[in-house]
Amino acid sequence: MGLKGLVQLFCIVVTLVSVCLVQLKAEDAYKYFTWTVTYGTLSPLGTPQKVIMINGQFPGPQLDLVTNDNVVLNLINKLDEPFLLTWNGIKQRKNSWQDGVLGTNCPIPPNSNYTYKFQAKDQIGTYTYFPSTHLHKAAGGFGGLNVYHRSVISLPYPYPDGDFTLLIADWYKTGHKALQQSLDSGKSLSFPDGLLINGQAHTTLNGDQGKTYMFRISNMGLSTSINFRIQGHSLKLVEIEGSHTIQNMYDSLDVHAGQSFSVLVTLNQSPKDYYIVASTRFSRKVLTATALLHYSNSHSPASGPLPSPPAYHYHWSVRQARSFRWNLTANAARPNPQGSYHYGKITPTKTIVLANSAAIINGKKRYAVNKVSYVNPDTPLKLADYFNIPGIFSVDSIQSLPSNGPASAQIATSVIPNSLHDFIEVVFQNNENTMQSWHLDGYDFWVVGYGFGEWTPAKRRSYNLVDAVTRHTAQVYPNGWTTILVSLDNEGMWNLRSAIWERQYLGQQLYLRVWTAQKSLSTEYNIPANVLLCGKVNGHHHP
Ligand SMILES: *[C@@H]1O[C@H](CO)[C@@H](O)[C@H](O)[C@H]1NC(C)=O
Ligand SMILES: *[C@@H]1O[C@H](CO)[C@@H](O)[C@H](O)[C@H]1NC(C)=O
Repeated sequence: MGLKGLVQLFCIVVTLVSVCLVQLKAEDAYKYFTWTVTYGTLSPLGTPQKVIMINGQFPGPQLDLVTNDNVVLNLINKLDEPFLLTWNGIKQRKNSWQDGVLGTNCPIPPNSNYTYKFQAKDQIGTYTYFPSTHLHKAAGGFGGLNVYHRSVISLPYPYPDGDFTLLIADWYKTGHKALQQSLDSGKSLSFPDGLLINGQAHTTLNGDQGKTYMFRISNMGLSTSINFRIQGHSLKLVEIEGSHTIQNMYDSLDVHAGQSFSVLVTLNQSPKDYYIVASTRFSRKVLTATALLHYSNSHSPASGPLPSPPAYHYHWSVRQARSFRWNLTANAARPNPQGSYHYGKITPTKTIVLANSAAIINGKKRYAVNKVSYVNPDTPLKLADYFNIPGIFSVDSIQSLPSNGPASAQIATSVIPNSLHDFIEVVFQNNENTMQSWHLDGYDFWVVGYGFGEWTPAKRRSYNLVDAVTRHTAQVYPNGWTTILVSLDNEGMWNLRSAIWERQYLGQQLYLRVWTAQKSLSTEYNIPANVLLCGKVNGHHHP
């Protein structure tokens, strides 16, 4: 009799049948969705343009889950181009088959569908989903993905009176195909035309005076860092991409491309309406979007100047980033305290230093990592690995340290090999004069240090090895570096990419192959029965 059998027997014996059944059911909860992706026409910045909708919604439907929920989501592609969604921050434990990027999945052809099956295993927090194909993200198709706590797990803050999801995105009036053509022809994108909050220029959030609300804020844009603030109100930071933080108060927060935060806001001001403001950071031209926080007993419109943004300089932002701390005594999705994992006491098995660069290859603008500019093969890497198809990717095409020689950048399908259970130190070295934002699929990681100049091993003395937060996306400041520590406990093929979409699209990405020779369902699930095949595995038999 398995554990489940014992639990069931226990339930019957002690006649707490109803309670136990509820818990068993919660354990096994399955949630089914059918999402249809179409084009639509909307005017988010005042002029009509083609957007990508899911079930007729822009942004797409909010995916509200509870920790350990199993999602069965049939995605029907009614666009005229192949399409995939990726679940940003969902760790896909043992299951990179469902990651929804071109290195793991064949794109869903037009007028076709694919049913994702994944579990929000041991996760809690504010996440997102978005299209990983082409420049589809520039047209929408994205949405909030919130994972709520199980009732048996406590939260390190009082239960909020309500919950708002705010997706903030820089936005172009130009369609995604024209943007893509511009990149394909070797030209950078221009600066975006505006900022949207939940796909609109005007949104109103309603709350009651005296109550406390959770604001889940995500930067869904293509490139710009944004600053978020609310007139007359402080933000109490409680969660960053699945980490419960020390609950500091902030007047505003910098949210870099691909990042998410949860804050609590108490409506403790006099009854009126207040401006919610998002504005671009570190840009010569500043784009600003506003929404309204409406007190239900308010009879006065929002008034007065918008709360001003923080100083332009990067040091303000770095200081803020360093102030984010793990609450060591708080639990996250599981009952054990976050601090019971002493990441700072583990000696990394290797160090990888990744330097981004802009490059001209064959006369066109590209971006590279350690002088390799990534290209997607026709066959997903994960499937090439599974079906033993040689020649799709090479594990020696990219060095794990930048080379300082004059060699020019090359095009390749770059993969860094790792063994399951490696514990790695990754340094993102940014020798360019622009902000970077790096995202890793399949994991969260500790962001242990930010600095300026060239990283050297001596910089390790400045690391936070006690209470750094774990997250899935880390910013790197211009002419600076950021170090993360990653426990590679999730077998699979995992995308490490720039969250700045032009850079990702033009080659600033690669894959980490986390591999073990021992094939076991305890470390990786079987290839899904409904796997889509394409490229060189097209003729292969389904599993
Ligand atoms: C497409 O949807 C059908 C149900 O309408 C489902 O049975 C099938 O498995 C889906 N295809 C894939 C590849 O997931
Ligand atoms: C840390 O979490 C605990 C719950 O375990 C909570 O009571 C406490 O207020 C949090 N501490 C800070 C400084 O945020």
